[in-house]
Amino acid sequence: MCGIVGAITRSGAVLEGLVEGLRVLEYRGYDSCGVAVVDGGAIAIRRKVGRLSELEKLLSDGALNGARAGVGHTRWATHGKPSDENAHPHSDGSGRLALVHNGIIENYLELRRELQAEGRVFTSETDTEVLSHLVGRELARGRSLADAVRAALARVSGYYAIAVLSGGDTPHLVCARQGPPLVVGATADGAYLGSDVLALLPYTRDVVYLEDGEVAELAPGSLRLTNLAGAPIARAARRIDWDAEQASKGGFAHHMLKEIHEQPDVLARTAFDRILSTRGDVAFEHGDWSDARLRSLERVQVVACGTALHAGYVARYLIESIARLPVDLDFASEFRYRDPQLARGTMALAISQSGETADTLAALRLARQLGAWPASICNVIGSTVVRESEATILTHAGPEIGVASTKAFSAQVVASFLLAVRLGRARGVLDERAGTALLDELRRLRPRMEALLASETIEQVGAIARAHQNATGFFFLGRGLNFPIALEGALKLKEISYVHAEGYAAGEMKHGPIALISPGMPIVVVNSPGRVDEKVRSNIEQVKARGGHVICVGADQPSLALADERIATPATIEALSPVLNVIPLQLFAYHHALARGCDIDKPRNLAKSVTVE
Ligand code: F6R
Repeated sequence: MCGIVGAITRSGAVLEGLVEGLRVLEYRGYDSCGVAVVDGGAIAIRRKVGRLSELEKLLSDGALNGARAGVGHTRWATHGKPSDENAHPHSDGSGRLALVHNGIIENYLELRRELQAEGRVFTSETDTEVLSHLVGRELARGRSLADAVRAALARVSGYYAIAVLSGGDTPHLVCARQGPPLVVGATADGAYLGSDVLALLPYTRDVVYLEDGEVAELAPGSLRLTNLAGAPIARAARRIDWDAEQASKGGFAHHMLKEIHEQPDVLARTAFDRILSTRGDVAFEHGDWSDARLRSLERVQVVACGTALHAGYVARYLIESIARLPVDLDFASEFRYRDPQLARGTMALAISQSGETADTLAALRLARQLGAWPASICNVIGSTVVRESEATILTHAGPEIGVASTKAFSAQVVASFLLAVRLGRARGVLDERAGTALLDELRRLRPRMEALLASETIEQVGAIARAHQNATGFFFLGRGLNFPIALEGALKLKEISYVHAEGYAAGEMKHGPIALISPGMPIVVVNSPGRVDEKVRSNIEQVKARGGHVICVGADQPSLALADERIATPATIEALSPVLNVIPLQLFAYHHALARGCDIDKPRNLAKSVTVE
């Protein structure tokens, strides 16, 4: 996740506004940043690793203060470490253009080879640089900037919001969207763009949101929207009447709700450019994920806390069933004090959103001392867990601000799925066809996640949550891959709604906890088709026989029919059902807490990153 801004004016200077725009977008990433402006017809680029203050030092000579067109970028690294060279804007070496990008170009390696064969020289490790060369090649063929952008985008597959600036007597500014958000707006003197409406509010409250596959040409006082084929699109501007606090949440009432809605995009960022479709395999950066390394493993030991531990449970089911490798799992806070005995060839897998959780870090260090190979699934690139791991799968979920973790969890589950496939392929227990089938299904998940976030589902979940707002206790039940989802559903409700909620393995109920069920008690059961679906149906019957009020979440139709209330999720393979089934549970907790008037983004007694024991 990165932030992009752009401005072009008839008479006003743009640099200060670009920097202020980057400041409000820093929440989208902050490992490096940069600006490019048209200065006397030529493009001038300034970029720097680190926070915005570093860039401001570079700009303090005032040399670019008079520029009337420019773009800016604040980065959350995906391809290539945070560095001056990898910071945006990028160029094609011609001095005629600068480009900023948020997203991932999936076929960048083959495009890079093609462009290098033509003699084009690359100066960064980013996927973005291929875009600047593609646009530059089209400009050199005499196309206008907008046509060059369209022609370049026709060559790429992936996921992007871009802004491109060209120099010369008349500067041009063009942006395009396929995936990540992009907003544009015009005033009498200028035109502006940004990843978030926040960046536009100092100029105008009348904005146009680009849709996927759209291109906008910005000129002082005007905007022109077209599709990728160049056909004009008419769209009236929308008036924004949020205050700054609301705007930072993208119009959502809470960060948590915004982050729940980001999950389809997070799936794309975590997974899509790592999939090697023709090989039924996955490629990871950051460390040695080679066949030889993975074949030397005999066990996996997951260590994590809270929500990340729940993702670890899913990882256990996935790695054992897809890669046939034994997996142990423990609370990091227990592992570090229980004198653990690790088998030879153990991968210690720390799962953490922040990468700074004290217990997870201590458990990873201990496992390393005991001879394990330290690896991690983590969201924050420069964090301690990442630095102390020999290999990492970065989840690319973007900054998570809501204290209750949502998008980081689904990203961890998706990363675990990718890891299971990589391990299975490396160990020779998953053939190419089976790998391809799994990864194809992962690609199909995005529209299904989007469907779950449609307003009808949200209203349905909200109505059910409100109906139970006065309940004093909940059970969340599941088995197999959906047992950790039950745990996660219960944790979300406890955290933000302050209601007792117990997550339990459905098959364990009869060994004691079933005694707690009293008539009318809400029991949320998660069940999707798979190897335990029938078993869960029997558990539903047992609960109903004791008067429990069953709310079923999942895709198992007979279970949905048995339940008193239901939230159906789209069908997918069993291995991916957790990614879909968790969404209604996140929404359930959200609406329950909302109905009870709780402080959703800052629940009592909690902190976002637990860096103490
Ligand atoms: C729950 C939640 C916590 C974290 C836990 C680990 O919503 O956010 O349970 O999952 O504190 O944090 P990380 O993943 O940063 O190690």
